[in-house]
Amino acid sequence: MCGIVGYTGPREAYPIIIKGLKRLEYRGYDSTGVALQNGGLNVYKKKGKVAELEDSIIGKNLHSHIGIGHTRWATHGEPSDRNAHPHQSSSGQLAMIHNGIIENYNQLKQELINKGYTFSSDTDTEVLLNFIEEIKKNNDCSLEEAVRVALKRVTGAYVILLMSADDPETIIAARKGSPLVIGVGKGEHFLGSDASPMLEYTKEVVYVNDYELAIVKPDELVLKNLGNEKLTPYVQRLDIELAAIEKGGYEHFMLKEIFEQPQTVYDCLRGRLDAVEGTITMSGIQQYAEQIMNANRIVMVACGTSWHAGLVAEYIFEELCRINVEVEYASEFRYRNPVINKGDVIIAISQSGETADTLVAIENAKSNGAIILGVVNVVGSSIARMSHAGAYTHAGPEIGVASTKAFTAQLAVLTMIALKIGYMKGTITQKRYMNLLKELQEIPEKVAWTLKHSDNIKALAEKYKDAHDFLYLGRGYNFPVALEGALKLKEISYIHAEGYPAAEMKHGPIALVDENLPVVFVATKDSFHEKVVSNMQEIKARKGRVISVITEGDETSASLSEDVMVVPEADEILAPMLSVIPLQLLAYYIGLARGCDVDKPRNLAKSVTVE
Ligand code: G6P
Repeated sequence: MCGIVGYTGPREAYPIIIKGLKRLEYRGYDSTGVALQNGGLNVYKKKGKVAELEDSIIGKNLHSHIGIGHTRWATHGEPSDRNAHPHQSSSGQLAMIHNGIIENYNQLKQELINKGYTFSSDTDTEVLLNFIEEIKKNNDCSLEEAVRVALKRVTGAYVILLMSADDPETIIAARKGSPLVIGVGKGEHFLGSDASPMLEYTKEVVYVNDYELAIVKPDELVLKNLGNEKLTPYVQRLDIELAAIEKGGYEHFMLKEIFEQPQTVYDCLRGRLDAVEGTITMSGIQQYAEQIMNANRIVMVACGTSWHAGLVAEYIFEELCRINVEVEYASEFRYRNPVINKGDVIIAISQSGETADTLVAIENAKSNGAIILGVVNVVGSSIARMSHAGAYTHAGPEIGVASTKAFTAQLAVLTMIALKIGYMKGTITQKRYMNLLKELQEIPEKVAWTLKHSDNIKALAEKYKDAHDFLYLGRGYNFPVALEGALKLKEISYIHAEGYPAAEMKHGPIALVDENLPVVFVATKDSFHEKVVSNMQEIKARKGRVISVITEGDETSASLSEDVMVVPEADEILAPMLSVIPLQLLAYYIGLARGCDVDKPRNLAKSVTVE
């Protein structure tokens, strides 16, 4: 969480930083701040989004060729002006921004209090900054050396960017556990939580690794480890266009990303799936195919929407590969001392590739001998690099905080892996394999069809927007879709929603049903359909308001529903890639109708880099 931006070079730093922070607001947006060098350090910060800071400092002299900026998702200390970053050291000589959590900050704070320090915020960041200043003063050393010494004492996660009043050219940066990208320009450098703040200036970037420290000047980038040994920065060329991170005429990123899905699913299949030849080319998976086929179990580890993709994949892998699959919340898996046997295959699913819990969970499993496969969207991200192998989802940058296109791309990748392994293992027949390949290849068109037939959803949103609660029900492959639909609604509209297996509903949630409760059934035609129809009857008999996602032409489900959203026919294994789409749209339009900030829902962040 939290977005960081830095610049040093000949351009005006402030506009670069503000634009960069707006692109990083998906990482947090409860307060914002910048530090500039203009005859000394100037820090401007404010509770609220980037635009609010911008408005509040109109007219100030913001001229500077170096600067750092931060958009915050609060961990230590409420969102407020005083807790906003950058923080300044007691002497006022240093300014620092931080993404992460310093876990032993209380201990460090006590040491500093004993030396007479006082603090003007509740943050762990201010503690670390003063700790660095204290080391610099005591050891009479350079700032770089003080940072190195301080970081050796720190437990937790961080990316920090530091500026000093007596050096108008240099930013010192360091990382452990949170992402840091440095853009390399001609006589200038850019820093960011991801590459989006630097895209229009350079495509050459360096991904900084854990326990590395960067000393960044306009003409020079020096990378070192915490042992003060110089490292050679590995410069990579980015393959992202600016248009990919802009709204392209849509009112919100979320809507743009929902409508991008025919293309993103297509991009994900392209070059991999050949339905004529009957091949699936995934080199990373191929490399570990033997181990996957022979694994006693596969564990899907993920959080949020990615966890729902893991649940769908559980059904698909068990069906096609006959391998025992478990799906774990990364935050639980990492702490509960799970049994991991050598040869277990862990599939880490993550859009950002930076989710702290997922990252640590796979780190632990890896050290216990498990094989780690990453299904990740962001190329070069920490989870991608931590994995033995994997397959990127190629959905392009996802900026709306609620995940949409990443989910369908994750399903496409996971389905391809299951098909490949199942076919190699002989647990599916050639006929079924070939049919599924053909059907999978048609999914982008069916996604487009679904979007084309979604015009009624806006009106449904108006009709149901004032409900206090929603229930989402589904069975089999559509049960995780019900969970995902409920999650989307909660995130975007703040309406309480619960997802449940349709049959399990009788063991509790049915008590909630009355004439006011909208119950959304994910009821596409599959092997569970008749059972789901019975569940619809049960809700209707108790006067619940049934809204259904149905297969086009399904009169039975339609007759039991007050309203329907339609998807085209598809094999049940592939249906979630379609049935989730009306639910994404329903959440979007309800959020919109309730006046919510759908791209930046309250309290959430897109990339959760704290545990
Ligand atoms: C946050 C986001 C969700 C996302 C989850 C997991 O909660 O708001 O949209 O599903 O993190 O993130 P990941 O990047 O690991 O998929």
